Order: sequence, then C-alpha cells, then structure tokens
Amino acid sequence: MSSRRLFRPLLALLLIGTAGVYSAAKAQTQPKAPDTMEARVQGCTACHGSRGQGTDNDYFPRLAGKPAEYLSNQLQNFREGRRKYPPMNYLVTYLSDDYLHQFATFFSQQRPPYPTPAKPTVSAATLARGEQIVLHGDASKQVPACAACHGKALTGMEPAIPGLVGLHSDYISAQLGSWRSGTRRAIAPDCMHTIATRLSDEDVNAVAAWLSTQRAPQNPVPAPARSLKTPLACGSEPQ
Ligand code: HEC
Ligand code: HEC
Repeated sequence: MSSRRLFRPLLALLLIGTAGVYSAAKAQTQPKAPDTMEARVQGCTACHGSRGQGTDNDYFPRLAGKPAEYLSNQLQNFREGRRKYPPMNYLVTYLSDDYLHQFATFFSQQRPPYPTPAKPTVSAATLARGEQIVLHGDASKQVPACAACHGKALTGMEPAIPGLVGLHSDYISAQLGSWRSGTRRAIAPDCMHTIATRLSDEDVNAVAAWLSTQRAPQNPVPAPARSLKTPLACGSEPQ
C-alpha cells in the first residue's frame, strides 16, 4: 500500500478520534445528542462521503446504492478479518450484526449523483481488452463476462452483488489483487476468488481502467434478485 493511501485514512481516523474525545467531553455538560442514523454515519462520511458517494481520494469506495446484503456482508467480513483495511477493521470490531445491517441499509438507499467518469490513462488496446472481458469474458481462460453477474448495466444484482460503476480504478485493481492473494475472502464458494485468479496482472489493469471510465446508467438500481443466472455459484447469492 502506498504511503498516500495509508496516510489519508489515518488522518481521517485521527480526526474522527479527536471528535469523539471532544464530544465525550461536551456530553458531560450538554444533554446527549439523539442517536439518529445521520449521527451514526458521521464516523463514515469523512472517507465515504456524506451519502456514501465516495470521496476524491482514489481508494475510498462508493457505498451508495449497492445492495444492502452486499454491504452488510462486507462489514461482517471486516469484523471477522476476511477483509483487511485497518481503519475499517477497527471501526466495526465491536459492532453487532444488527448495527452493521443498519449502516448497510442506510447506504444502500442513498442515491447521490455519480462522479464524472475517469479520463482514460491507458492505451486504447488496454481499454478494448478491459471492455471485452467485462462484457464478454475470455473463454480461453474460463473467465465469464463480469456483466453476467454484475448486470449488463454493471449496477449489480440484489441481494448481494455490488455495482461496478462509480469506483476508482485503483480500488478495483486492489480488490482483485486481494482476492488473488487471499486477503479478501467472501462467503464460500468464493466465485470472485476463482475469477480473480484466472486474470493476469494485465487483465486486472485493463478491467479496472475500462470500468472506471464508464458512465453510470440513468437508473442505477441493482437488477432484481435471480434475474441473472450466475455462471458460477457464489456463496452470497441464493441459488
Ligand atoms: C478512514 C477512512 C474510512 C472510514 C472512517 C470508514 N471507511 Fe469504510 N472503507 C474505507 C476503505 C479505504 C475501504 C476499502 C478497503 C479495502 O477493502 O481495501 C472501505 C470499505 C468499506 C465497505 C466495503 C465497500 C465495498 O464496496 O465493498 C463498507 C460497506 C464500508 N467501508 C462501510 C463503512 C462504514 C459503515 C463506516 C462508518 C462506520 C466506514 N466505512 C468508515 C475507508 C473508510
Ligand atoms: C459468478 C458471478 C460473478 C462474476 C462472473 C463476476 N463477479 Fe465480481 N462479484 C461477485 C460477487 C458475488 C461479489 C461480492 C463478493 C463479496 O461478497 O465480497 C463480487 C464483487 C466484486 C467486486 C468488489 C466490488 C467492491 O465494491 O468492493 C469487484 C471489484 C468485482 N466483483 C469485479 C468483477 C470483475 C472485474 C469481474 C469479471 C472479470 C467479475 N467481478 C465477475 C460475482 C461475480
């Protein structure tokens, strides 16, 4: 992880920590603020944006509009160590499933605008390779089209497949890298592990670059549950 990636989140955490101490001190003299969802998500918005739209930082992912079960699974994954990112692991350590689910529901219901898609910084050939894999897969490597599960519009599918639009290419390539190395794991059978290990470094760069340049569709809601027949079984999806 680059020092830029590590430093900014740590700074954000420090700010959150300081705010916590400050409000604890204030709480002794003032009546307690109501425990609303808006108040609870204050601890998340420095990194994920006020409505989960993501921030300019090239590593903080958009949460808004992703299916609630998907988001809830991820918060549990951070709590149980199936995903590793110290600020996230630390934040959710002592939170219950129910509490995590409330965060997930809140962000899944937000519909802030999408960021302007990234300008391509890779060659036309790389972009074309990325588009080919995302929309059609690569039969020679037994890689199914990403769109077969993430939807033609790439907005994901209920209840637990996330959209792939509105994410930075650094974030996407880091996630695929974590699946290949085993530092990110999903409910078994972990279809994304299978798929990521069939991609080369060049393939990962190509799909990440192409995805980050795509504009979100007019209606960015995830496809209805079971509306797509996934080409591989995924533990988080009802069969
Ligand atoms: C210090 C910055 C920071 C804070 C604060 C933070 N997050 Fe995150 N969050 C991240 C980063 C970075 C990732 C991606 C980490 C990775 O897997 O590499 C992430 C990932 C996630 C994911 C998974 C997203 C996905 O698409 O898979 C969810 C859900 C999430 N955060 C929710 C929250 C919630 C809820 C809070 C508040 C309780 C919160 N985050 C606070 C930085 C932060
Ligand atoms: C067989 C179905 C399936 C296919 C095909 C598939 N995915 Fe996924 N993908 C999933 C599921 C399920 C998840 C959620 C896993 C979890 O719970 O962590 C996921 C999650 C992801 C994430 C994490 C998003 C985030 O916000 O952190 C990325 C990135 C991703 N997939 C990229 C791809 C790419 C690129 C391809 C094509 C090369 C692809 N996927 C093909 C099922 C699939």
